[in-house]
Amino acid sequence: MENIIIINASPRAPQSNSKKYAEIFSKHSRLQTEYFELNKRNQDELINKIEEYSQLLFVFPLYADGLPAPFLDFLKMLERALLKHKPIVSILINCGFIEHSQNDIAVEMIKLFCNQNEYIFGSVLKIGAGEAILETPFKKLVEWKIKKLASSICTQEYKTLEVSMPISKKTYISKSTEYWVKYGQKYNVSKEEMESMKIE
Ligand SMILES: Cc1cc2nc3c(=O)[nH]c(=O)nc-3n(C[C@H](O)[C@H](O)[C@H](O)COP(=O)(O)O)c2cc1C
Repeated sequence: MENIIIINASPRAPQSNSKKYAEIFSKHSRLQTEYFELNKRNQDELINKIEEYSQLLFVFPLYADGLPAPFLDFLKMLERALLKHKPIVSILINCGFIEHSQNDIAVEMIKLFCNQNEYIFGSVLKIGAGEAILETPFKKLVEWKIKKLASSICTQEYKTLEVSMPISKKTYISKSTEYWVKYGQKYNVSKEEMESMKIE
């Protein structure tokens, strides 16, 4: 029977947007679906588990136009593991900027990993405005695309999908600035401090 393992590779997996996207995916997945969060202690365990599945979905955020460093480390381990059975790899990536195309390089990085290590690449969903979209009326658009992603993996009719907020960049920047300035005020952090390198 076809089954799928979801690996949340966000460095803040337990509180991540990736977790919310993975939950929506699980709701729509018609395959036997299991969800795991990547962390420092479970890399070996996850690598062993991967062989038990026919499909693998990596859910992760864009970091500095690429993959988060702990996720890169995990892929290096996976490369060395030389699995006998390799699932088909799909991805669900989200980024902070409004353009879903910001994710393109990270998608290419996973495709390269697949090519070099003989994994078949399946579907991809690229989400723009990934930090904000679930809190807006556009949540429905994301849910619809995640449902399409789940269905494409189940039917093995693999696709490239994308979604973002259908508003102008100017509106997005002004609304998100307003949001973060208010958020900073709650914790006594000014806009200037947030714009400095001292902020984490
Ligand atoms: C260290 C770091 C680097 C980031 N780099 C980018 C980036 O290059 N482009 C972008 O659009 N968003 C970037 N983001 C925003 C994240 O992709 C965005 O907040 C995402 O929703 C986080 O997902 P998560 O909660 O699943 O980890 C970055 C966030 C962090 C913390």
